Amino acid sequence: MINIQDADRHSHQGHVHSEACSHGVQPKTSLPTVRVAVLNGPNLNLLGTREPQYYGTWTLEDIHNDLMLTAEGFAPLPVELHFVQTNHEGALIDAIHAEAALGTQAILINPGAYTHTSIAIRDALSSFHGLKIEVHLSNIFQREEFRHKSFISPVVHSTLSGFGPLGYRMALTYTLQTLEATIVAG
Ligand code: DQA
Repeated sequence: MINIQDADRHSHQGHVHSEACSHGVQPKTSLPTVRVAVLNGPNLNLLGTREPQYYGTWTLEDIHNDLMLTAEGFAPLPVELHFVQTNHEGALIDAIHAEAALGTQAILINPGAYTHTSIAIRDALSSFHGLKIEVHLSNIFQREEFRHKSFISPVVHSTLSGFGPLGYRMALTYTLQTLEATIVAG
């Protein structure tokens, strides 16, 4: 069962640098809770209306809801999803550090345009030792040449690009299957 912490969801809206919220699936078994952070970078708060020819019409909230349903499908594995969207490079780095300090098992990240510019975000991800998946809604390799280079791809386990919002679902499915298999194998 998904426990949507609505108060938490809205409590961060006043923050300039980031909006974050957590959603937990209540543990029903002795399996340990896995925490997965879903980090989205600049301009992704505008999904739904932003260049729909590239990014489709789903809002970020639609994506979050879809991910919560995906997590629910993994019951009885207890999953805690933590969502962050920020338009600021440093806030994204702070979020990665915070997840590392918490022992978060996986990060799914769409760094937006920072993908193509940020060695600092790459370095932060390098210091995070859990599973890391890079997600892009559009196929960055079919677009302008400056988008073909990702500073992030070399330091993550895999990159999904061009699957639209379903890329996030695929990334979470892979992540939860991998974590579940690791837990079951002991
Ligand atoms: C993006 C691709 C980036 O090139 C762009 O700057 C974005 C979104 C994507 O999801 O397709 O903001 O990461």
